[in-house]
Amino acid sequence: MLAQNRFILVLVVGALLAVLSFSLQYLHLIPTNTTMAAKRSQGKNRKRVNPVLHTDPPAPDPIRDTHQYCNYPNLTEHGWEGHSLPDYKLLSVQVMIRHGDRYPLYSIPKTKKPTIDCTLSDKRKPSHSLLNPFISHMALGGRGHWDASLGSLPRLPNHSSCEMGELTQTGIIQHLKNGDHLRQAYIKRHNLLTANWLPRQLWVETTGKSRTLQSGLALLFGFLPHFDWTRLTVRQQWSTLFCGSSCDCSARNWYLDQEQHRQYRQRIADTELERTYVAMAKTLGVATKNLRAANPVDALLCHFCHSLPFPCSSSRTIANAQDEEACLTIQHFAVIRRQQKDDELERREAGLYRRYAVLAAHPYLNHTAARLERIARGRQFRKGKEEAVFALASAHDVTMAPLLSALGLEGAGFPRFAARLVFELWSSPEVKDKGKNEKIRGRKRGKELDGMFIRVLYNGKDLTFDTAFCHDNNRHSDQPLCPLGNFLSFVRKDMFNIVNATSYEQACHQTVQ
Ligand SMILES: *[C@@H]1O[C@H](CO)[C@@H](O)[C@H](O)[C@H]1NC(C)=O
Ligand SMILES: *[C@@H]1O[C@H](CO)[C@@H](O)[C@H](O)[C@H]1NC(C)=O
Ligand SMILES: *[C@@H]1O[C@H](CO)[C@@H](O)[C@H](O)[C@H]1NC(C)=O
Ligand SMILES: *[C@@H]1O[C@H](CO)[C@@H](O)[C@H](O)[C@H]1NC(C)=O
Repeated sequence: MLAQNRFILVLVVGALLAVLSFSLQYLHLIPTNTTMAAKRSQGKNRKRVNPVLHTDPPAPDPIRDTHQYCNYPNLTEHGWEGHSLPDYKLLSVQVMIRHGDRYPLYSIPKTKKPTIDCTLSDKRKPSHSLLNPFISHMALGGRGHWDASLGSLPRLPNHSSCEMGELTQTGIIQHLKNGDHLRQAYIKRHNLLTANWLPRQLWVETTGKSRTLQSGLALLFGFLPHFDWTRLTVRQQWSTLFCGSSCDCSARNWYLDQEQHRQYRQRIADTELERTYVAMAKTLGVATKNLRAANPVDALLCHFCHSLPFPCSSSRTIANAQDEEACLTIQHFAVIRRQQKDDELERREAGLYRRYAVLAAHPYLNHTAARLERIARGRQFRKGKEEAVFALASAHDVTMAPLLSALGLEGAGFPRFAARLVFELWSSPEVKDKGKNEKIRGRKRGKELDGMFIRVLYNGKDLTFDTAFCHDNNRHSDQPLCPLGNFLSFVRKDMFNIVNATSYEQACHQTVQ
């Protein structure tokens, strides 16, 4: 029974990965310079003539968006993590990350794979002052506690020619930087974890892939340089949804299925995309359907993010040896990215993905809500009941995209490499004074969450008041922050409104049509 469930889960997860990798996309948040957008859109998008650009909103630019997606680690990391009103106390931080830059999961038939070195070296760019200390520290990893199969995974990428899906040095640097940024925000400013933190105060979980494990360890090392291995336990999540023991949900699979049908219809209706696939297949001398099945955008993203030339046909005949057209081009790539963006907009309108997302993200959110509530109620002060004041979940695009959608943050776009989503728990100054007495007397139910607030940040931006559970709270009202209670009732009940249900159980097992 258990083995069977696990098998079904593997199938579902596989399907998810295939579909969502296919729909990699990134929604731009920065206003465009109109003249540049006009220049760039010439020629690349013949289908959409846009003669009045100066009055229309700026045209989406799939290439600029893709630069955002790559998340080059050559800029200083900024963010609003740890910023709050004076005298508020930071009680806990729960983080979910997407793994960093990785080698493709698919290869394009009849082309040479991109040449990338996945060993780590401070001689190569991008690098970071923490890179060498990180490498040395990982060699001591045998002292840590490893759940399930994690102990046998490599703790560092180490192939001179990257393997499929392997984390690159860029990926490591992205997360060392994330960790270092969070250390400034939480440890330096707020003493979130003191030097003698207890094992239970740190929670680290990852899927069983080396790229998520290594990403999590890099962030952790940036956050707690030279951390004590013996205090660390790394837990494994079997599902990319981080649904623990609550993965069984037939309605979720139904919505995903519907969403995939919608996506398929959208794709075949896009004649420019179809023409592009035909042209690309012809260039490489492969059947169009074989090229499509190889999900070429995944490999092209890797070429793009690493500034490598796009692949050329490796089986050029004498007749076309001189033919410059035997390579894939940025124009091909731009069409695929443009279609992905259109698909993202249509997906939001159709609403099927949001329904899927609510059911996919609930178990993780429920777990997070329960932990924040226990901390808010002061349970972590009981001996042996210490709670995770810092929790890290190292995950995939297929984990984070539904989470964003379920929270009502679809506008934040498709998760880029090394994206980070942060939940912060804060208490107001009044709670601090009152808390001391009430801890002894035991707090009354209901009242005790007064003065507890939540903040939600994505890649350093404070999106608290964009979330479905707090967008009605006016920043300028007497509640300057979002009450934790809003989040708790959203996760336990309100999030199921969209699927006409009041609980996860009910939503998962009702008949949908
Ligand atoms: C960062 O690196 C990317 C890719 O190598 C490059 O295109 C970009 O210009 C760099 N930015 C800065 C500010 O150095
Ligand atoms: C990487 O692999 C090489 C060759 O297998 C080995 O000599 C080296 O110690 C490894 N480095 C790390 C940091 O694991
Ligand atoms: C949600 O969390 C509560 C409290 O921890 C737990 O009792 C319940 O089983 C969880 N439900 C799901 C669907 O995960
Ligand atoms: C929820 O109920 C309304 C009204 O009965 C119906 O129109 C809608 O389609 C239902 N939505 C779902 C997701 O079942």
